[in-house]
Amino acid sequence: MSFKTPIVRTVDDLRAVVHQWRQEGLKVALVPTMGALHKGHLSLVDFARNHADRVVVSIFVNPKQFGPNEDLDKYPRQEEADINALSSIKTDLAFCPTVDEMYPKGFTTNITLTSMTTVLCGANRPGHFDGVATVVTKLLLQCLPDVAVFGEKDYQQLQVIKRFVSDLDIPVSILGAPLIRDGDGLATSSRNVYLTEEERSIAQYIPKILQDMAKKAHQGQNLESLMEDGAIDLIEAGFDSVDYLEFREASTLLTSQTVTNETRLFVAAKIGKTRLIDNIPVA
Ligand code: PAJ
Repeated sequence: MSFKTPIVRTVDDLRAVVHQWRQEGLKVALVPTMGALHKGHLSLVDFARNHADRVVVSIFVNPKQFGPNEDLDKYPRQEEADINALSSIKTDLAFCPTVDEMYPKGFTTNITLTSMTTVLCGANRPGHFDGVATVVTKLLLQCLPDVAVFGEKDYQQLQVIKRFVSDLDIPVSILGAPLIRDGDGLATSSRNVYLTEEERSIAQYIPKILQDMAKKAHQGQNLESLMEDGAIDLIEAGFDSVDYLEFREASTLLTSQTVTNETRLFVAAKIGKTRLIDNIPVA
């Protein structure tokens, strides 16, 4: 019989399974997701497996990280397909809590960072990283894994999580896994399903323009003018707006004055209502 990933929906049931694994001396990894799983997510499970004996994937579309005008209601939800995908790579457990299980009546707590969350995605999505920090803190404390894996696709999110886990002394190692792209170079994302065929062909310009900018930055061209020209290139390629296109330092997310071996290039741009993000190293 083929393997089927078991599902737990409550914190108690999750803890019971993880407790049993711990009794057996096994090392546990958690991979938090919002579902609509694609090969980027599945690569995190493979990555996690290299660092632990058992892998738990959580699937929870977290209302607290969506702004009032964002896509919470239409965010793709496809639990059966997700569980099939997880089963095919023998994921040990899926944790799929309801909104009430995660945020019972009377829930009042919010995790807020005092820096790193007002730049890049935080500037256009107020409250977004508070929502991420709150749910990730809960997931880490609910599961208490040895390691938790997050993708470099959401590079700012990864740095924010590393920061508050260190600040709050949460006893979990946070690992970053490489960004996975589709054949056309576009970063694989659950939101790519929103794109029409025409929008998809415009979207491919993101990695092309980033690569071109990174190469020129590396050659010593002025960063300010590269950012200005790059934003114009995105609009000319067919993007409706550019939320940001910035060179910043990898772990602090501070603006890069010159290229160092920490410099990365970050972008968020919209085609119609779909907002795409990407980032690449410059060095
Ligand atoms: P979600 O967008 O579902 O992503 C879950 C994890 O998959 C994140 O760590 C993200 O960086 C990673 N990921 C997505 N696309 C990827 C790609 N193309 N390559 C590599 N990794 C990729 O990020 C979230 O959910 C949420 O904010 C969450 C952390 C689960 C909190 O709700």
